[in-house]
Amino acid sequence: MPIVNRVADLTADITAWRRDLHAHPELLFDVHRTAAAVAEKLKAFGCDEVVTGIGRTGVVGVIKGRKGGERVIGLRADMDALPIEEATGLPYASTVPGKMHACGHDGHTAMLLGAARYLAETRNFAGQAVVIFQPAEEGGGGGKEMVDEGMMDRFGITEVYGMHNYPGMPVGQFGIRPGPTMAAADYITIDIEGKGAHAARPHLGIDPVLVGAQIIVAAQSVVARNVDPLKSAVVSIPMFRAGTADNVIPQTVQLRGTVRTLSEEVRVFVEKRLRELVEHTAAAYGAKATFTYRRNYPVLVNHARETGYAAEVAGQIAGAERVDIDLPPMMGAEDFSFMLNARPGAFIWIGNGDSAGLHHPAYNFNDEAIPFGTSYWVKLVETRLKG
Ligand code: NI
Repeated sequence: MPIVNRVADLTADITAWRRDLHAHPELLFDVHRTAAAVAEKLKAFGCDEVVTGIGRTGVVGVIKGRKGGERVIGLRADMDALPIEEATGLPYASTVPGKMHACGHDGHTAMLLGAARYLAETRNFAGQAVVIFQPAEEGGGGGKEMVDEGMMDRFGITEVYGMHNYPGMPVGQFGIRPGPTMAAADYITIDIEGKGAHAARPHLGIDPVLVGAQIIVAAQSVVARNVDPLKSAVVSIPMFRAGTADNVIPQTVQLRGTVRTLSEEVRVFVEKRLRELVEHTAAAYGAKATFTYRRNYPVLVNHARETGYAAEVAGQIAGAERVDIDLPPMMGAEDFSFMLNARPGAFIWIGNGDSAGLHHPAYNFNDEAIPFGTSYWVKLVETRLKG
């Protein structure tokens, strides 16, 4: 069974919504125009309940099926854009300097709106569908705020699903995997205090730049020599702030970076090893280092049973041979992980064709994916909530 017929009829509307969102990108929690447009549409579609202001600017719509049922299925889209100057040259390119929808959240929001319209119109299911539009996926933890505010209990959500586009995967294909799918993303800051000196008289100081360089090299040994080679971790320290003159050894330097891991065990271990290396390396040179480890998004773990349901529905839409059920995990992060920590569910990837990569100034969501993504949402509800 390919694209749902009624969804095919709605595709022109969904595409128009997507392009309007694309032209008006908003960042993090500051998605007021987007959230207002979403809420207005959900009301116009006849959702039984539309609630705004969850997780600051999140929006939730409730659609009751024609048949009674206990199950409540949550479908989640993200609404925020990125602080990137768009370079697509599209007729509907960003009208806001320095902001663009470079991760396709415009497409995610539009596809879920299309599904809400279809579901409110047909209601051919038992139980309830809850459409979730979250702010601040790009680093702000909007999904976490919605969960922390009690969204799951308030709407009685029993399982939850997410979707993201995937550049490089052909349109009309899906990818998914059970278990750890995206990494925990944590952030490190290392402040090193040495002793400033004239660059020609280094023996009178303690050079924190040299200490910082040693720490950067030592940090790579954690992944190369300490973490089990069959497990995954990334330590990247892309920021090194030091010095103001070519003949002055500074008093302090700061390093900043990120740690990505695919399990809680490795996450805890890498933090511990980094802390030891940083403190002891600094001490070995007579400097002092302060190590700050900030936990951000947790590992995104797909639940096995719900991953099976999702893959089966994707197969109904695309054909089973076009669903990769063993897509390799990624070291990027997603705050849908907070929702999956609260309820069973699964996160699926949908092909975006041969586009520029996510977060690239030339990226664009592929409108040809719309009928596939929207059909997936509505079939997921009708399959999981069969009366
Ligand atoms: Ni994204």
